Amino acid sequence: MSALAGTVGTPVREAEGRGMGSSVAYVTFADPDGHDDERETVLAAWAEAGIAGRAVRWDDPEADWGSFQAAVVRSTWDYVRRRAEFTAWAHRAAGLTRLLNPAPVIERNTDKTYLRELGVPVVPTHWTDTGLPLWDEYVVKPAISAGARDTIRTADREEAARHAAALRSGGRTPMIQPYLPMVEAEGETSLVYFGRVFSHAVRRSAMLSGSAAGVDNVRAALRDPAPDQLELAGRVLAGIPGDLLYARVDLVRLAGGEPALMELELTEPYLYLRWAPGSADRLAAALKALLT
Ligand SMILES: Nc1ncnc2c1ncn2[C@@H]1O[C@H](COP(=O)(O)OP(=O)(O)O)[C@@H](O)[C@H]1O
Ligand SMILES: [Mg+2]
Repeated sequence: MSALAGTVGTPVREAEGRGMGSSVAYVTFADPDGHDDERETVLAAWAEAGIAGRAVRWDDPEADWGSFQAAVVRSTWDYVRRRAEFTAWAHRAAGLTRLLNPAPVIERNTDKTYLRELGVPVVPTHWTDTGLPLWDEYVVKPAISAGARDTIRTADREEAARHAAALRSGGRTPMIQPYLPMVEAEGETSLVYFGRVFSHAVRRSAMLSGSAAGVDNVRAALRDPAPDQLELAGRVLAGIPGDLLYARVDLVRLAGGEPALMELELTEPYLYLRWAPGSADRLAAALKALLT
């Protein structure tokens, strides 16, 4: 996930989303700090398209999922520490309403071990805490994470191994990667798709670059993706079966300049809507197409 600091949204009320007939649930989390600054934009675009949306917390025990025509997973950003509970919820909700993206997609996508199975170029990754390759600098992160949580950057191979071992002993799968300096030069490119159709792309600044570490300091700017990035993102999505209402493909360039997948966000991506005029309307149109 990539939450950006932004405007404070209205709080999600407990009672929202009950007995709403043919409305669509905008699935969020308790969000006490109002991090989801895209919610009102999306709900307004849905309303414009004739879709009545209601914000509902995924973990609201009173939510009546069967009363919704569909439930669209959006800002469920607290799932990282509760992933088993979250994926169990996704399967349960999918039995009661149309869950988008679908539950199997969400289950697979919330654990970055999916990167091993896509058959496309990904950031080089060593998956165990022993026998680390010799790299100038390391990034060590857990396979289940968001917002660079529990992620370190270090030039010290022993420290990298220790962090990986600590993740492992906590029952988590460590991912050890070379630190890619290109994320500082050209940034990370996030390509956003609605209904599998390209909508817009942003270039994002590095998250692990010393002075401005952390998700709230990431800067973004709209930019046209290069042909090789569009081609790779297309190949990534072609490998995912099922309905995809939204997708964000995060790419970086390796030392040789070739694009590689950093992360495929099919669960709860921040969508950079306010950077791209018309993008919320495209999301609404894609939802409408899937519902009819
Ligand atoms: N190998 C790497 N080299 C450079 N920066 C990295 C690397 N891995 C992660 N980062 C930085 O950390 C951020 C978060 O990592 P990511 O793998 O996207 O996980 P998540 O967004 O789920 O926390 C990236 O957006 C990027 O800025
Ligand atoms: Mg990411």
